[in-house]
Amino acid sequence: MASQSIKIRNLYKIFGPRGREFVEQVMRGMSKTELNREHGHVLGLKDINITIPGGGITVIMGLSGSGKSTLIRHINRLIDPTSGEVLYGDADVCRMDQEQLRQFRQKKTAMVFQKFGLLPHRNVLQNAVYGLEIQGVSKGEREERAQHWIKRVGLDGFSEHYPNQLSGGMQQRVGLARALTNDAEILLMDEAYSALDPLIRVDMQTVLLDLQQELKKTVVFITHDLDEALRLGDRIAILRDGEVIQQGTPADIVLKPADDYIAAFVKEVNRARVIQVEAIMAPPGSSGKQTVRIPASTTVEACLREMSIANATAATVISADGHEVGSVSMDQLIRCLVGDEAAASERTSHPPAAALLSAIE
Ligand SMILES: Nc1ncnc2c1ncn2[C@@H]1O[C@H](COP(=O)(O)OP(=O)(O)OP(=O)(O)O)[C@@H](O)[C@H]1O
Ligand SMILES: [Mg+2]
Repeated sequence: MASQSIKIRNLYKIFGPRGREFVEQVMRGMSKTELNREHGHVLGLKDINITIPGGGITVIMGLSGSGKSTLIRHINRLIDPTSGEVLYGDADVCRMDQEQLRQFRQKKTAMVFQKFGLLPHRNVLQNAVYGLEIQGVSKGEREERAQHWIKRVGLDGFSEHYPNQLSGGMQQRVGLARALTNDAEILLMDEAYSALDPLIRVDMQTVLLDLQQELKKTVVFITHDLDEALRLGDRIAILRDGEVIQQGTPADIVLKPADDYIAAFVKEVNRARVIQVEAIMAPPGSSGKQTVRIPASTTVEACLREMSIANATAATVISADGHEVGSVSMDQLIRCLVGDEAAASERTSHPPAAALLSAIE
């Protein structure tokens, strides 16, 4: 399905009865603290500009109170903006009339919640069909579609179970099956996995990534957790006090943190597992002896593994269609691992790839 992108443009949200009166002052630079102190209003979002590409996973990250839920709720207009636009294709969600909005919410979007949002008196199948039931889809068709997704999220055999008979992870699978049964292009997931135990959470990330390979939904995924953001996000936007302080690919965030706040966040990350060689490669042929060929989406860790096996000191990077698009040397890999330009240039000889690998594992 070729999904359209969501473009959020100059979006402001001021909570309080007279929000519109103060938006000019916020545009001129009034801070969240000043707005609260002088006018008793809360700045929820300030000048948000994000393009959420169709068919990809965009992660919104930030600490509690940074505006993540406020932002995602603008996408299906559970919250009205004080100023700005939310474009889906040519349509501005903020200008839709009630009927257009109802259609948009029902047909184009589905939400997955942290607290699962399941109806306790309905079994798994009845929960999954709920959206289609409201849309008036026939019983036979809606149950067939729901059973398909119940299987796909790994709940085969549990259709007749009630939510209180299921673990948290299984309930979240029901939430996902329900969202997928609706066949919406946009999946809005607000801290969907935050209440799950760490291992179950990683399982659910895998479920989402596997399904996404095939489905190519436009997913907006909110999390507090950097590892989750880096694993899931094709793109990541980081919010602080209602403002986007950085947006980009996982590699952008890890390689070029915009400020000390983000640098502190990414310090503990295993860079080798996040950064793909594409982000650090040089033009083709500039790395001397090249004995391995690797796809551009290979992580630094996997690249080192390949080089170690082949006893190589450099690699040729190839695109998905087999063209040579760049090269990486041991120098570049070391620079990337230590996050320090100087470190690599000071070295005269390099440890073999195998030694580097054991150092990062
Ligand atoms: N209805 C509301 N009325 C007044 N202030 C609000 C309202 N909803 C949110 N806020 C404020 O807007 C800011 C952003 O809140 P939001 O819930 O979007 O944060 P969040 O990033 O989702 O936090 P969390 O991680 O805790 O869910 C906070 O300062 C919050 O207190
Ligand atoms: Mg929230």
